[in-house]
Amino acid sequence: MNTIELIRKKRDKESLSKEEIKFLISSYTKNKIPDYQFSSFLMAVFLNGMNSEETSFLTEAMLYSGKVINLDFLKGKKVDKHSTGGVGDKTSLIIAPVAAAAGVYVPMISGRGLGHTGGTLDKLDAIPGFKTNLSLKEYKSVLKKCGAVLVGQTKEIAPADKLIYSLRDVTGTVESIPLITASIMSKKLAEGINGLVLDIKTGSGAFMRKEKDTLLLAESLIRTAKSFGKKVIGFVTDMNQPLGNYIGNWLEVYESVLVLKGESEGDLKELSLALSGAMIFLGGKASSIDEGIKLSQRLIDNGLAYKKFLEIVELQGGDTNFIRNPEKYPKSKIIERIFAPNNGYLETINNFEIGMAALELGAGRLTKDDIIDPKAGIIFKLKIGDFVKKGTEIAELHSSSQLKIEKAKEKIYNSIMLNPNPIKKPKLIKKII
Ligand code: URA
Repeated sequence: MNTIELIRKKRDKESLSKEEIKFLISSYTKNKIPDYQFSSFLMAVFLNGMNSEETSFLTEAMLYSGKVINLDFLKGKKVDKHSTGGVGDKTSLIIAPVAAAAGVYVPMISGRGLGHTGGTLDKLDAIPGFKTNLSLKEYKSVLKKCGAVLVGQTKEIAPADKLIYSLRDVTGTVESIPLITASIMSKKLAEGINGLVLDIKTGSGAFMRKEKDTLLLAESLIRTAKSFGKKVIGFVTDMNQPLGNYIGNWLEVYESVLVLKGESEGDLKELSLALSGAMIFLGGKASSIDEGIKLSQRLIDNGLAYKKFLEIVELQGGDTNFIRNPEKYPKSKIIERIFAPNNGYLETINNFEIGMAALELGAGRLTKDDIIDPKAGIIFKLKIGDFVKKGTEIAELHSSSQLKIEKAKEKIYNSIMLNPNPIKKPKLIKKII
């Protein structure tokens, strides 16, 4: 097969066969197609899309680029959750220990930050010593010991996604339904899970901004998961403002720990409980999502969820001292607060810009080779619908350089709109499918 011919075919809006897709994925994974040609193929898919058959072929090719893990040695259901990505979206750090504390196995394979969104792996890397690149043997051993494990794709597990994900991140090819579907599903299907909870984000900080596109993505993800025989529950949730208040890798670990210790209420906790509730239901440890939510709350109240988190961190080599004593974690060189220029109700936030401001501060990558500053980020103090007086604190910015702070400041000021009239707060969970 000829790579250029296949790029042309997709460029000209033709469908690709299973063999053609398999050829492209396997050749790229084996380093036989250079980045510039594969980027061109990705852009053709981004612009012209793929039908549901091609999307399934792509998922299958990416899935079988590596091993499919067999977890049959564990008695009990294995359930995972995946989010399509957002700003301040740290629920994985909360729900993995909660569901594991309820007796559900959570074999989680996550990604790094993509575009303006954060990634679970980058957050875990902020915990000194935490290893996310476990071997398959270590992965199984941690999962068996404590019921949850949090790792990234390896050469063994969905290697095609590992490569394609970072290429998409820097070639403007992230926001594509077939590419997102195959990326998420190839990782998730490789885990050997029985059930999957999907958090499909919609709004200015999501890859799908319009609800119509989000529902198409939800449909594509659910159809693909089902075609591989998995039980799946999809939540369509709001991403028009940061989830929780903390954005940036260590800052998000810190906020997750607050929720796990029962010391933080609000949207982050609400969504985390709903997602873990659904995982516990799919895992057979509750008779409904509502029962699962109640159990999740109890596991936070009685300290077992927090204890489980410490266990995971310890088993994966992380230093639990910083989790127990977060005040010991190094602070950014510069911490600057910014204030509201006028009175008014917070009407809209351009959440994409908030994500980009966090990247600018050092919390993410602007190029493939950028190194993340785990301390950098934003504590965003407001929620849509809040009344702010002139001079009210909007956010606290953490970075290593004044120049980065200045750039982020401008983005944040430009991203918020105040209205003199009261504004209704947006609904967090828009739909459960
Ligand atoms: N999350 C993923 O794992 N892949 C995507 O493409 C987008 C979000």
